[in-house]
Amino acid sequence: MTLTVEGAARSTRAAEVRPAGAVRLEGVSRTFTTRTGPREVLGGVDLDIRAGEIVAVVGPSGCGKSTLLRLVGGLDRPTGGRIAIDDAEVSATDERTAVAFQEPRLLPWRTIAQNVALGLPRDAKTREGRTAGRDRVAELLQLVGLEHAADQRPGEVSGGMAQRASLARALARNPGVLLLDEPFGALDALTRLRMHDLLLDIHAAQPTTIILVTHDVEEALYLADRVLLLRSLHGSAPAAPKSAARVAALGSSAGIGAIGAAAPGAVARTHAVHEAPHRAGGSVARVVTVPGARPRDRADRTLADLRAGLLEGLGVPTHHQRSTEH
Ligand SMILES: Nc1ncnc2c1ncn2[C@@H]1O[C@H](COP(=O)(O)OP(=O)(O)OP(=O)(O)O)[C@@H](O)[C@H]1O
Ligand SMILES: [Mg+2]
Repeated sequence: MTLTVEGAARSTRAAEVRPAGAVRLEGVSRTFTTRTGPREVLGGVDLDIRAGEIVAVVGPSGCGKSTLLRLVGGLDRPTGGRIAIDDAEVSATDERTAVAFQEPRLLPWRTIAQNVALGLPRDAKTREGRTAGRDRVAELLQLVGLEHAADQRPGEVSGGMAQRASLARALARNPGVLLLDEPFGALDALTRLRMHDLLLDIHAAQPTTIILVTHDVEEALYLADRVLLLRSLHGSAPAAPKSAARVAALGSSAGIGAIGAAAPGAVARTHAVHEAPHRAGGSVARVVTVPGARPRDRADRTLADLRAGLLEGLGVPTHHQRSTEH
């Protein structure tokens, strides 16, 4: 009898969705030991991410974005500082997080459904939990629009489908925090746009905190509540915004800038863009709050200004600057 009750309790777990987790980073640093000596990749990262928030991380190649994600996922440990989810420190193989990468990393000899099932919590693999596990896989396949491809192998589906399977496998862990490392980077432009809306649908259906590493500033501004711009601790730091409009669009280093004043034609908007000041020398160059509710209008003037400012922060000259330089 006890067995049945325990079995029933366990079998519901595979179907349960863990509530979104709040992530706190306090003075986080990571220094690698290399043949040429210690190399500080991340330093002084302080960040509070609300439960259910979507935070995008952008920054030049090699600045430590993936390192940051691995630290939050418990796949690596910080050399300094502390990372906690809901006030409990992150541990190795933390069950509260799940990671999806740029390549889907599916097992080619297993079907799409079997690959998704690999993400299920351990209890779903017991005899008692199997039915709940199967139901959960079916539900996730439906969520990512792959129910028709359940029995196909990864080699038989498109890149976008494989990436959707990879997302479903990550969600199968019932993560409170979903960590995405350039998940759409290998997809064609049109599929990528569709994946953005899919991610928003997933976030609405299964509210989870999302940290999204991306090279695509537009993607960051379309999806995220806040964009974290990291700087490289080696080599040149991102340029400070030059034009007055960009300074206002990104907020002053002291705190808040009103976007309406910066963008003619957007004066009616009352959004204020908050930028948290960060200590000089740390990895975080800026934190930009993205105004407006999702889904956002990709053509929005305010977002265009933010995009220009972020690109400038990444050291990419805008078209306007290029033409005035000559
Ligand atoms: N295990 C390691 N040992 C030594 N150095 C490492 C290790 N892992 C990462 N690094 C170094 O840390 C730096 C940051 O790496 P990371 O992968 O986090 O960068 P990134 O911002 O994700 O770059 P990209 O945009 O190209 O993916 C790089 O210079 C990398 O060589
Ligand atoms: Mg990376």
